[in-house]
Formats: sequence, C-alpha cells, structure tokens
Amino acid sequence: DKGNYRHFMQKEIYEQPEVLSHTLGAFVDMTTGRTKMPKGQDLDFSKIRRIALSACGTGYYAALVGRYYFERYARIPCDLDVASEFRYRESPLGDVDLAIFVSQSGETADTLASLRYAKSQGLKTAVVVNVEGSTMAREADVVLPTLAGPEIGVASTKAFTCQLMALASLAVRAGVDRGVVDADEELELTRVLAEAPRLAREAIHTEERIEALSREMATKRHALFLGRGFSFPLAMEGALKLKEISYIHAEGYAAGELKHGPIALIDDTMPVVVIAPHDRSFEKTISNVQEVAARGGEIVLLTDASGAANGPVEGSRCIVLPKMAEILTPIVYAIPLQLLAYHTAIQMGTDVDQPRNLAKSVTVE
Ligand code: F6R
Repeated sequence: DKGNYRHFMQKEIYEQPEVLSHTLGAFVDMTTGRTKMPKGQDLDFSKIRRIALSACGTGYYAALVGRYYFERYARIPCDLDVASEFRYRESPLGDVDLAIFVSQSGETADTLASLRYAKSQGLKTAVVVNVEGSTMAREADVVLPTLAGPEIGVASTKAFTCQLMALASLAVRAGVDRGVVDADEELELTRVLAEAPRLAREAIHTEERIEALSREMATKRHALFLGRGFSFPLAMEGALKLKEISYIHAEGYAAGELKHGPIALIDDTMPVVVIAPHDRSFEKTISNVQEVAARGGEIVLLTDASGAANGPVEGSRCIVLPKMAEILTPIVYAIPLQLLAYHTAIQMGTDVDQPRNLAKSVTVE
C-alpha cells in the first residue's frame, strides 16, 4: 500500500529515517552505545586478514562504500568484485578469510553463486540481506540483517542506505575487535551513527529544490556524476538511479578520473552532479569541478554550508546538506540523489516503480 505517496519509490525514500534507526539497532546496543553482532550471529574480526566483498548493482556500490569503511575504521584490506565476475574469475583468494555479500533480495543469481563458490573454497561467508529467510540468508554462515522492510520499487533506495548503515556499524565493530577503535572512539562513532535518522530527514527536505532542478535534468540526454573518496561510490549509485528510472544516460566517475577521458564530454549542455561534502577530499574535488566550470558544464554541487562557503564555483548550483561526520556522508548524500532520479523520472513520464526491462529480483544470470 502506497498510503498517501504517489509511488512506492517515494514512500521508500521517506521511510529511510525510521528504517535506518531499526537497522542501527541490530548492530548497536542503543542504551550502552556499544557495537554488537545481530542476535544469534557470531563473527569475530580479530583474526580476519582480508575480506572479499561482492554484490550486484546497487548492492555493489554499497559494498564499495563498505570497503572504504573496513579499511578506514578497522584497517582490514578488502577485495571487491561484481558478483558476475567473482563467481567465474577463479582468483586466488590468498589470505582472504571472510567473504561478505550484499543483497536486498537474497536471491540474486550471480551473488548466490558467488556465495556458494566462496563456501566451496572454505571461506567463512556473511550476507548483508534484507529479506529474512531468503536463500542467501539460509546459506550464509553469518546473517547481517538490514531492517529496511519490504522494498517494492524496483530502484533500490532504503535498502541501499540500510546496507550502508549495516556496513558502517560492522566496520566499527571490526575496529573494536582488532583494537583499532578504542572504547571512547566506539562510543563517539555510534553516537554519530545514531544521528543518521535526523540527518536523513533533513536531506529529504531538499526535495523541493531538487524537484526544481529535475525539470532541467529532464531536458538532457546525458549526465555525469563525480565524487571522491567516500563519495565516489555514490557518484556511481546516483548515475545508476538516474539511468534506470529516467532512461537518461548517466555515468559516475571518480572525480580524479575526469581528466583521463570524460572531460572530453563536457560542454555547456552537460549537467555534472558533484558529491562534495566538506571532508578531506573536498579541495581536490573542487579543483576538478573548476575544470568542468571552465568548459561551461552545468554544475550541481551537493555539499554542506562550509563547502558552499569555501568552494564557490562560478555558475554552479548548490544543494546544501547539514554538516556531518564522514562516516555518515554516504548514507545521507544518497538521499538527494534518489530524489533527483525520482523527480526527473516523473518529469519524463516514465514508470517509476516498474522501469522497463528491469525486475526487482534477478534470479537468472
Ligand atoms: C538498482 C537495483 C539493482 C539491484 C541488483 C541486486 O536500483 O535495484 O541494481 O541492486 O539487482 O539486487 P539484490 O540486492 O536483491 O541482490
């Protein structure tokens, strides 16, 4: 039931503050602020030498953020593959001790086959999964639930941000297990994660401004999304969202890659969406944006107040989000990207919840 919402996708975007809080509750004891494993699950990161992450589509972008999280907060090196490559690549797994898969449905054929392959290689397997009782939830050694509730819209929204929340808390947990995160830092990080619902609510408030921008986006045939560091996976997720529901061709790039090819595409008709919270990557991202501006590209900058004050780029438009800790930016900045895709699709008159050629769960390879 869509309730008062126009589409399931819109409803699911609006549910994020609540389901993020549920998901966090599975990984953090909210009364003590200590990380924990979800009920009935056992996973100790202290002896894990290397993690292999794998998933498809939006789950893959969540896994990419997950890699940044595990490397930053737990200092565990990670490998990452799309599942359709992992299952056939037959790569030497070397010192990988744990394989983590990310799947909303828990049924995606390539991800399931990858999980089975990892098991056959003697790896411990874990799945970040939204559907309880799904095949992956039954077969993995460790189940890491996202509590997003049923996701009906084909384009993943709340499942994605809940995957990020699960991976962020798990990375903090891993850091604690390994002595990389001390007790004070653990409390600080979980306190920060608990701000996600409020910040998600504030991000949803950008909707009107995004809707105005979407009218222009809907006149375009192509779009570029750029980000660095924690925002690089989001650039790809933002592009995926736009293409799958509005059918506008979009590409997501690491901002630093711009000059290695895609800059040739920039002219005064090319919209460029830049994800640039005022974090350690900001200055570098802005220097890439200057290159876009110099060629007339139409820039939309997603940033915070200090970013908007420190990196004004001639002719760019800003969507200003609240200031937040780095660990939260992928979760919160995903929301304006979802809204941009959603409103652009509405402008285009496409079927938002059931885009052409797509299925919610891809059970064939
Ligand atoms: C994009 C989208 C797909 C899925 C992919 C994996 O919005 O929904 O790219 O993320 O098909 O599906 P799950 O997560 O069910 O394994």
